[in-house]
Amino acid sequence: MASQNLLPFLFCLLLLQLHPLAAQDAVKAAYWFPDSGLAASEIDVSLFTHLFCAFADLDPQTYQVTISAANQAPFSTFTSTLQQNNPSVKTLLSIGGGNSNASYFASMASQPSSRKSFIDSSIEIARSYGFHGLDLDWESPRNDTEMVNMGLLLDEWRAAVDTEASNSGQSPLLLTAAVYYSSVLDSVTFPVDSIGRNLDWINVMAYDYYMPSWYNFTGAHALLYDLPDRVSTSSGIEAWIGAELSPQKIVLGLPFYGYAWTLADPADNGVGAPATGAAVTKSGAMTYKEIKAFIETNGATTVYNSTIAANYCYSGSIWIGYDDVEAIADKISYATETGLLGYFAWHVAGDDNWVLSEEASSTWG
Ligand SMILES: *[C@@H]1O[C@H](CO)[C@@H](O)[C@H](O)[C@H]1NC(C)=O
Ligand SMILES: *[C@@H]1O[C@H](CO)[C@@H](O)[C@H](O)[C@H]1NC(C)=O
Ligand SMILES: *[C@@H]1O[C@H](CO)[C@@H](O)[C@H](O)[C@H]1NC(C)=O
Ligand SMILES: *[C@@H]1O[C@H](CO)[C@@H](O)[C@H](O)[C@H]1NC(C)=O
Repeated sequence: MASQNLLPFLFCLLLLQLHPLAAQDAVKAAYWFPDSGLAASEIDVSLFTHLFCAFADLDPQTYQVTISAANQAPFSTFTSTLQQNNPSVKTLLSIGGGNSNASYFASMASQPSSRKSFIDSSIEIARSYGFHGLDLDWESPRNDTEMVNMGLLLDEWRAAVDTEASNSGQSPLLLTAAVYYSSVLDSVTFPVDSIGRNLDWINVMAYDYYMPSWYNFTGAHALLYDLPDRVSTSSGIEAWIGAELSPQKIVLGLPFYGYAWTLADPADNGVGAPATGAAVTKSGAMTYKEIKAFIETNGATTVYNSTIAANYCYSGSIWIGYDDVEAIADKISYATETGLLGYFAWHVAGDDNWVLSEEASSTWG
């Protein structure tokens, strides 16, 4: 082979060498769970880079990660089903969730032996089910001791994942966690250094700021902007970045759902109007798909408030706060301008004919 013909080859090799140093591609993700009304095979995987399969459980006796009998079949086929339509999509097994008992996680994280049970079983289950990563949904550590223990857990989890990868010759499992909208929860700070050192990224749950069950005013439950002393997505993201977590470790949560309130006075129908509790469903929670159907059926008035980046609609005494394409587009613009790694949706079955997923993906570019 003539040496001059080697030059392009060497140049390609050089590019291949440089590639791993480039920033990770944007994360366009969503959570899925089996009884959500959408089969895994129905997910439009062309719109996503990563899907989270929810939820595996933590056994409070053995501290091992387990998958319930009902979830065995859907979880075991999740990755292969998605990859049939998009071979490069990555899947992560999510452990815990909002309905799991946070005290089980606190006690698991409090002892080296139980942390080891958790870690070893999580890796074993991820590999045997074919997932590309693991997602910790401990909602949430609540005091300084628990936060320190979470930091230890993440150090040991990362070490174990790296060891397993070098032993098995496979790519290391991705490691992520779903966390509170802010780095500070009731005056207690998350272990930000450990998070930055050990996790590929965090999924920031930037929603549920207001709910009909405890707030007797209509609320934009996932608003992007508000006054500095009030809860908002931008204030939470600023807190994470202010605590020195790289924006490249932050993935922004987008709610594909909203909440319905009953208005105290149908004529008083803005954000912050007096309300008397939930409407439509017991908690007021409705998926985006259900909200769109409600608007259609009832001819509801729809409003987008770009100052706070929140949509709402009302019809008679029913008021619903949610994210439509306008809120999603403004949040994605905020995320790219802030240098975040990407976004995730909770949850994929809430979308209506892929409208929000497409808006998010195309606005990101
Ligand atoms: C969580 O588990 C703890 C310890 O077993 C128990 O005391 C508590 O009642 C449980 N909480 C819920 C919401 O089930
Ligand atoms: C933190 O919570 C744990 C329960 O997970 C409790 O045992 C411990 O006493 C608490 N620590 C502090 C400092 O409040
Ligand atoms: C909200 O209003 C309803 C109806 O007036 C009342 O029953 C409920 O206690 C109120 N909730 C709160 C949190 O104030
Ligand atoms: C939008 O929200 C802001 C902040 O709550 C409020 O001041 C403003 O009046 C709202 N705009 C509209 C058009 O409702």
